[in-house]
This record gives sequence, structure tokens and C-alpha cells, in this order.
Amino acid sequence: PGEVSLYEAIGGEPTFRAIVARFYQEVAADEVLRPLYPEEDLGPAEERFRLFLMQYWGGPHTYSDQRGHPRLRMRHNPFKIGPIERDAWLRCIRIAVDEVGVEEPYRAQLWAYLEMAAHSMMNSFV
Ligand code: HEM
Repeated sequence: PGEVSLYEAIGGEPTFRAIVARFYQEVAADEVLRPLYPEEDLGPAEERFRLFLMQYWGGPHTYSDQRGHPRLRMRHNPFKIGPIERDAWLRCIRIAVDEVGVEEPYRAQLWAYLEMAAHSMMNSFV
């Protein structure tokens, strides 16, 4: 059914909440990623990422209501993101997507986007 957004198709907010919570659980324990996060409390970062993904996939526009235009590359400029950081990020989000268990063809769609987005967020060659 082409009219249904991926957001709805995979279960709406609870699914995104589960994926992003699992992702941040990995980030909290990752020695490459954890030091990049400026705040001690990862909760607010978790909420921003969850709201962004929900909006991107056709859910509510709460992210932009709160944060304005995403400008994600610009917002990531303060953090050095090279191949090591990108791979660490992809490792964490991979675990989250796999464990929460998104059904095909949505899993492949979601994964293709996340991989592309992670590559495009790089701002360093090392
Ligand atoms: C914010 C790291 C890729 C979406 C952040 C922050 C860090 C970070 C350190 C600041 C935390 C905060 O919000 O206070 C990384 C690294 C990546 C990566 C190391 C490796 C490639 C991505 C990708 C996406 C994304 C691929 C989207 C699909 C976001 C969003 C925010 C954010 C939405 C919050 C932006 C805001 O301030 O509103 N990221 N990120 N990130 N990241 Fe990433």
C-alpha cells in the first residue's frame, strides 16, 4: 500500500523509540562515540534523534517545531566524524535495527538511508 508511510508501516512512535533507545545504549558503551557527546545525559540527544527519524519517515513534525530545519551536516560540524566514527555509529544503529526487528521491505529501505546518511555526515578523512 503505497500511501502508508514507513513511519506507520513499522509501528509508529513505539518502534522508533525502541530503535533509538537501543542505539543510545550502544553509544553509551562505545569508546569512540561516547566522548563525542557533549552532554553527560544522553537523554536529550536520544530525543532529538528519535524525533528527527520519526519526522523523516512521515511521522509528526515535532523535530522541526522544536529545532527548525535539520541542517544535519552543519550540526555535526563540531564533532570530528571520520571513517572510524562513521563505522562505530553504523555498528550501533545496526544492532538497534536488527534487535528491534523491522520487517522487509522496510528494513532494507531504512538501512539504505542510514548507511547513506552516515557516509554523508563525514567531515574528516581520518
Ligand atoms: C546529533 C554524532 C550520524 C542525526 C549528534 C551529536 C553527536 C552526533 C555527537 C550531538 C548530540 C546532541 O544532539 O546533543 C554522530 C556521529 C555520526 C552521526 C559520530 C556518525 C556518522 C548521524 C546520522 C543522522 C544523525 C547519519 C541522521 C540519520 C542526528 C540528529 C542530531 C544529532 C538529528 C540532533 C541534531 C539537533 O541538534 O537537533 N550526532 N552523528 N546523526 N545527530 Fe548525529
